[in-house]
Amino acid sequence: MSKRALLIIGGGIAAYKSLELIRRLKETGVAVRVVMTEAAQKFVTPLAAGALVGEPVFTDLFDQAREFDVGHIRLARETDLIIVAPATADLMAKAANGLANDLASAVLLATDKPVLMAPAMNPFMWANPATQRNFARLQADNRKFVGPNEGEMAESGERGLGRMAEPQQIRDAALALLSDGPLKGKRAMVTAGPTIEAIDPVRFLSNRSSGKQGYAIAAALAELGAEVTLVSGPTALSAPRGVTRVCVESAREMLEASQAALPLDVAVMVAAVADWRPSAIADEKIKKDKAGIPGIALVENPDILATLSKPGKKRPKLVIGFAAETNDVEAHARAKIAKKGCDWIVANDVSGDVMGGDDNTVMLISKDRAETWARMPKEIVAQKLAVEIAAALNAKSPGRK
Ligand code: CTP
Repeated sequence: MSKRALLIIGGGIAAYKSLELIRRLKETGVAVRVVMTEAAQKFVTPLAAGALVGEPVFTDLFDQAREFDVGHIRLARETDLIIVAPATADLMAKAANGLANDLASAVLLATDKPVLMAPAMNPFMWANPATQRNFARLQADNRKFVGPNEGEMAESGERGLGRMAEPQQIRDAALALLSDGPLKGKRAMVTAGPTIEAIDPVRFLSNRSSGKQGYAIAAALAELGAEVTLVSGPTALSAPRGVTRVCVESAREMLEASQAALPLDVAVMVAAVADWRPSAIADEKIKKDKAGIPGIALVENPDILATLSKPGKKRPKLVIGFAAETNDVEAHARAKIAKKGCDWIVANDVSGDVMGGDDNTVMLISKDRAETWARMPKEIVAQKLAVEIAAALNAKSPGRK
C-alpha cells in the first residue's frame, strides 16, 4: 500500500510553496490529504489545494457533515505521517502547549503518528525566546523539523533564519520518515566531487575526481531511508533521487555547506578537496603580456573532515573519511584516523584506474577493524558501506566499532 501523508498548511506567505510540496509528494507515490487553517485560506484557496490532491481539503473542526464522515481523530490516525508546512509561530505554540481549538491543532493533539514541521516566519519571530521555547519543547516531544532556512523573507525583504525549507527538502525529510529502511529518520551528509579553486575569473585549480563514488553513497544511504544532503563540487552527474544536493565550488564553500547540514547522524567525506588554493583571486583575468609568467602563491584549505570530526555536541555520531593510497594502505589509513579524528576511513587503492573509473578496491578501516573489499563497482561499494553505516548507527555506540 502506498504511504499516506496528512499535510497541515498553516497561515503564512510560504503556504504557496506547500502546493508544490503536494505535487512533489504525489510524484513519489505518497497519497496526500490536506488540512488548512483559517489563516492559511487567506494565502491559498482550499480549491487550489483540493484540486492538487483530488479531494476536498479539510478546514473545519465543527463541520457537521465531514466531522461525521471522517472526523479529526480519523484524520489524525489514518495517515503514516503528518507534515506541518508552513509551521507558523502560532501553530508551533499551539502544538507545544497542547491547544486544540481548531482542526489543525486538534489533529496534532490527537495523532500518534510522526510529525514533521517546516517552520516559516519572520526571523525576529523565530528568534523570539517564546518560539525557541516552543521549538525545544516540540523537539523534546519527538516532533521532527526541517528548516527553517536562512534567506530573504518574502514579505519584508529582511534576511535571516525563518524561511521555509524548499518543497524538495521537505519532501526528502518526509520520505526519510516514511521509509521502512534501517536508516529511517537518520540524517546523513556526503561530500563528493572535486573542488575548484579560482585563480582569476576564468582559471582555476582542480582535480580529476568524477564524484561517482560520493554520488553512489548518497543514493545508497537514501535508499535505506536516510535523509541525505549531498554537498557536491562541480561534476557531470545529476542528483540521485531523494537526495538534496547543494552545489559548491571551493573548499571553503564546501566546508560552509557541510556545517550548515548539521546536526547529522553520519557524515561521509568523499570529496577530493583541493589541498591548497591560490592565496588571492585576481579580480580580472590575468593577461599574458603583463609581467611574464605569473607565480601562484598557495595557501592551505580548511580540512572539512578534520573540522567535522572535532569532539563536541555538534559532532555527527559517525564521521567517515576517504583516503587515496598507493601503498601501505592500512598503516596510512590508521594514521589518518588518528590525525583527523574521524571514526572510519575507507581507503582507496588508487594504484590502478580508480579515479574517474567505475570500479573501486577499498579497505574499510576503523580503530579495531580492517576489511578488504575486492574490486567491485562503485555502486556496490556504496551499498555495502550504507549497510555498515546502518548497522553502526543502530548499534549502541556508532563510532566505536
Ligand atoms: N578532506 C577534507 N578536506 C580537505 C582535505 C581532505 O574533508 N581539505 C577529506 C577528504 O574528503 C577525504 C580525506 O579527507 O575524506 C582525505 O584526506 P587527505 O588528507 O586529503 O588524504 P589523501 O587525499 O589520501 O592524501 P594525503 O594522505 O597524501 O594527504
